[in-house]
Amino acid sequence: MDRDTVEPDVTAFPGPNAREWVEFHGTNAAPSEYSHEFVWDVTREADGPFVTDVDGNVLLDFTCHIGAAPLGYNNEKILEKLREFDLVEPMKIAGQDMYYGAGPSPEESSIPGSSHLMEKLVEVSSQYDMDTVFLSNSGAEAIENAMKISHDYRAPAKYGVAFAGSFHGRTLGTLSITKSKDVYTRRYPEISGIETVPFCADRGCDPGTCDCGFFAGEGSQLRSMLAPEGGRIDPDEIAFVVLEPIQGVGGYRFPSETFMQEVADVTDEYDIPLVVDEIQAGIGRTGEIWASDHYPIEPDVISAAKALRVGATISRSEIFPSEKNRLGSTFGGGDLLGSMQGAFTLEAIEEYDLLDNATDRGEQATELLRDDAPDHVVDVRGKGLMLAVEFDTPDRRDAVVKESLERGLLTLGCGTKTIRLLPPLDSSEREIDLGIGIFCEAIEAVGPSAKAA
Ligand SMILES: Cc1ncc(COP(=O)(O)O)c(C=O)c1O
Repeated sequence: MDRDTVEPDVTAFPGPNAREWVEFHGTNAAPSEYSHEFVWDVTREADGPFVTDVDGNVLLDFTCHIGAAPLGYNNEKILEKLREFDLVEPMKIAGQDMYYGAGPSPEESSIPGSSHLMEKLVEVSSQYDMDTVFLSNSGAEAIENAMKISHDYRAPAKYGVAFAGSFHGRTLGTLSITKSKDVYTRRYPEISGIETVPFCADRGCDPGTCDCGFFAGEGSQLRSMLAPEGGRIDPDEIAFVVLEPIQGVGGYRFPSETFMQEVADVTDEYDIPLVVDEIQAGIGRTGEIWASDHYPIEPDVISAAKALRVGATISRSEIFPSEKNRLGSTFGGGDLLGSMQGAFTLEAIEEYDLLDNATDRGEQATELLRDDAPDHVVDVRGKGLMLAVEFDTPDRRDAVVKESLERGLLTLGCGTKTIRLLPPLDSSEREIDLGIGIFCEAIEAVGPSAKAA
């Protein structure tokens, strides 16, 4: 497969082999969430955004496994580095609790392990004076640990603040601060003390135009909730405010500068730790290492995962508890292979100028979409390669996902009537032209014929 020339090629989707694999998988798998019946054949050719499925269909994948494969498939920018090592077994070696070395000294080591990954994460978070990292398995754990360290730092604070429309993970703790679809949270017990305030998703929102209710009266709901006079909660009792700088599952919602400034001002004023969830938007996806870098906020804790291949809770040393054994992970935190992939991804972003590439290719994609999109597209938005197209109805959105797939383009829904596009960070001009071209064809094909809900 030559990434510079290959094009999507679909015979039948899902084909007979995909159906068989889906059935086999479903025999023992918990009836889990399928976004589509795409079954990647790991034994066949794949490169960057192009992938072959078990029926031999060649697809263009603009989902990057919801951001967990930031450079797509078999990307040489990572593989060539991994290949250099005559690796010991790529085992799920004990992580944070029993870390490892590679050779006599860290300086001479050619294998970046979990300690090196943490060093790199601190480097890319130096604008926020962060110097300490805790590694874990997943995004949910990266957030759980952010909540825990904030509670320690602000003890005996008993409240946390989350935003409407948020998604932070599937553990009971993270579900308690997840305020998007109730299918995630319904009937599970919640940790107590979580307050929810509106999230201003209007990119131009300010106190004069706000219609989500965040800006109300003299200030914001966040400010009035904590006001010394007439507020409901003593700010000293708040352990954290947790925020996705750009909401992911909730619909790729990009807040306004004014909203972010207000969140920054209120958290600063009362010294409340601002925890930012960079699990989907971080590690270069938006054209900056952290989505927070676009906004006037100063995070106190960053939670990252997905593109890193491990979970990471990053902060300043004074926020982390110093008591030994207060945090831990027996075998998950920063396994050898995951840590190397994470470190190589950060290296590749720097080495190949992928932040600039994400910005340029993102602009190319939004321009094409804005020029070519018909009327039933309500909004085209994005930062870098975190892109979203919103439709007038959920049915129209679902129909476009299906039409795209039939033409060989993988996309993902989010929110209620939005499609998110996450091409690899090193996408070329040709790949963006190709993918957006197919996407616009799919929109045209759906046209006004899809049932409006
Ligand atoms: C913003 C955000 N936070 C947290 C999570 C949870 O991460 P994980 O699935 O690794 O637990 C996700 C996953 O999609 C996410 O998008």
